[in-house]
Amino acid sequence: MEGIDFSSLNLSKPKLFDFEGISMIHHFTDNWEKVQDFQARPDDILIATYPKAGTTWVSYILDLLYFGNDAPERQTSLPIYMRVPFLESCFKVMPPGTELADNLATSPRLIKTHLPVQLVPKSFWEQNSRVVYVGRNAKDNAVSYYHFDRMNMAQPEAGDWDTFLQNFMKGKNVFGPWFDHVSGWWEKKKTYSNLLYLFYEDMAEDTGREVERLCSFLGLSTPLEERQKITNGVQFDAMKQNKMTNYSTVPVMDFKISPFMRKGKVGDWKTHFTVAQNEMFDEVYKQKMKNTTVKFRTEI
Ligand code: PPS
Repeated sequence: MEGIDFSSLNLSKPKLFDFEGISMIHHFTDNWEKVQDFQARPDDILIATYPKAGTTWVSYILDLLYFGNDAPERQTSLPIYMRVPFLESCFKVMPPGTELADNLATSPRLIKTHLPVQLVPKSFWEQNSRVVYVGRNAKDNAVSYYHFDRMNMAQPEAGDWDTFLQNFMKGKNVFGPWFDHVSGWWEKKKTYSNLLYLFYEDMAEDTGREVERLCSFLGLSTPLEERQKITNGVQFDAMKQNKMTNYSTVPVMDFKISPFMRKGKVGDWKTHFTVAQNEMFDEVYKQKMKNTTVKFRTEI
């Protein structure tokens, strides 16, 4: 299947509601029964992230590692959101994520989720599927999420930056509080060894090193030359130009407001946070993260 016809989509912004203790929109709960009953397989790779933390980046790396050489037409005709189904998504214009995943012919299947760890379908744990989590520092993550809510008709109203930031600190975003998401998945790593926890900042600092880390986690012996080629192909500018990875095929996103591949930087938060907002955020952060050992870098 190629792109999707989004013209029939009802273009009114969805509202947040409480769902299983987190803020959600209907696009990610409408298919909930099938999500919870989803049958994972032992060779599945679940790509788990808080929204805007580097999902597309790591998805594309994994896609190239596994299928980059097998099927060249895949690289030019199939957008990343069709190669890597978004498990809990349920948009009228395309099959729900569970169905896309069930129909994936690839092995392994690469599957994306933004669910907090406690809501992940239990079959992934029962099957001991591999999980790659990517975390991104809260400040850059918040800025990226703000622009995403502004430009995406399928996301709630962003409000102005200050309103958005206040809501972000309260966890009033789709998929709930960033703080609980990153620390919940960090805790899971202690009891579930088939989980690799990556950081966006590490990927930005040295993509090749993180590709190597992925290979050793996945037991892949991809030759160095191939890894270097992949590392070049997944740089921000290359992915921004690539129609299969830049989401330009999705009309609900208005790139005139903000492109999907926006800046791709560590530290862009400094162009958004006022001194007062930064101080307040640091206070809230200290409080909310006091019981976890996960550490993020806000600059590199
Ligand atoms: S989504 O909608 O949740 O799947 O979005 P996600 O892919 O997680 O996050 C989008 C942000 O990741 C940036 N990005 C990259 N940064 C650096 N290098 C590469 N290759 C790359 N690919 C995606 C993208 O630009 C978004 O971040 P911001 O800060 O908004 O630019």
